[in-house]
Amino acid sequence: MTRKHETILIVEDDAGIAALHRRILERAGYQVEWCARADDARRRLQRGGIDLMLLDNRLENGVEGLQFFRELKDAGLDPPVILVTGFSDDATIIRALRQGVMDYVTKSSEYLAYLPEAVRRALDQVHTRRQLEATNAQLRQAYAELEQKTEELQQTTQQLWQAAKLASVGEMAASIAHELNNPLGIISLRLEAVLAKTPPSDPRRKALEIIEQELERMAGLVSNLLHFSRPGKESISSVDLAEEVERALELMHHHLKKRAINVRREWEPGPLRVLADRQKLRQVFLNLVSNAGDAMPNGGTLTLRIKRHLLPDGRPGVLIEVVDTGCGIPQDILPKVMDAFFTTKEEGKGTGLGLAICRRIVQDHQGSIHIESQPGQGTIVRITMPASNGVNVDRLR
Ligand SMILES: Nc1ncnc2c1ncn2[C@@H]1O[C@H](COP(=O)(O)OP(=O)(O)OP(=O)(O)O)[C@@H](O)[C@H]1O
Ligand SMILES: [Mg+2]
Repeated sequence: MTRKHETILIVEDDAGIAALHRRILERAGYQVEWCARADDARRRLQRGGIDLMLLDNRLENGVEGLQFFRELKDAGLDPPVILVTGFSDDATIIRALRQGVMDYVTKSSEYLAYLPEAVRRALDQVHTRRQLEATNAQLRQAYAELEQKTEELQQTTQQLWQAAKLASVGEMAASIAHELNNPLGIISLRLEAVLAKTPPSDPRRKALEIIEQELERMAGLVSNLLHFSRPGKESISSVDLAEEVERALELMHHHLKKRAINVRREWEPGPLRVLADRQKLRQVFLNLVSNAGDAMPNGGTLTLRIKRHLLPDGRPGVLIEVVDTGCGIPQDILPKVMDAFFTTKEEGKGTGLGLAICRRIVQDHQGSIHIESQPGQGTIVRITMPASNGVNVDRLR
């Protein structure tokens, strides 16, 4: 099969032989060009459009064709080559094939008859190789698209899961909170009445005051739960970060106390505000505090830091750090922890969605989230977000 417009470059210092080759190849239907010198050939190849080079191994001034071929390859020019060698120059032929020439012809008596066939075979190979490369590129492209679609699908699944999880937790929280509200109110009223009748000198007074304090905490928890489960209508507002972290800590109080975890609050003075969906932000803090708690089953310290921070693009931002002294995350799983459904917790304990949700929410707020961890020493989760100056509000609305 001969393809039209295939161009062969003859590199040959002997004008007579070059003319002979040209005639044979033109008769076989190829376009033919000729360069007598290696330098000219290099320049010609750089311009492109050469499908195959017919390279004499003995060029002028003792330049070896094969050496010239290697220089071309080193320079990133890698044309398909048929080498023309002297008669029975076996050592050269072996070297040539090792260096990647496609074929060779030796200047024996019958080689001219064989030349068009060698050229055709080499060009067919080149053609097949190019088709393979194109198919490969298409496959790679298709694979990349498939990967992207899979990721999109995973994210959608994750959102659905999240919606379902939130809906059921919210419903349950709301009903429990509702049920608790009434008895709490009654106990409070009764207690108030008893306290009013108990003078400060009464030895029972102290115990009653403790009951009153604990009742207040319970009421706070219930109102938090009600707040959490009530879907907010206007989602974006200016949120005081310390306040939200505090609410998350209140909700997680039991989780942390059970594990004898000491909580340190390191807020920079003055309210640090971001424009955010309060519910979502709280979800982030809840997930992070919950993870930290799980990482310290035998106690430890949970530090929550909030400070001002300059974003890489120069905008004012905030930095929130959730630091634990827990089990840490092994290096090999660290890159995976934010993947949806990745969990090391036993079945029924973790869905592996916590951090995936955190990442999503933080990204929706134009922020970033990074995790640093030392196995056996602890973990730091760092979140940065633009401070509340109106810049991230458009995207969220
Ligand atoms: N503070 C931490 N210390 C140690 N390991 C952590 C910490 N936070 C997360 N991990 C690891 O990352 C994994 C994924 O966390 P993620 O919050 O996404 O899911 P989960 O906690 O397993 O389940 P879920 O949050 O859905 O209940 C965890 O299973 C745990 O192995
Ligand atoms: Mg979690």
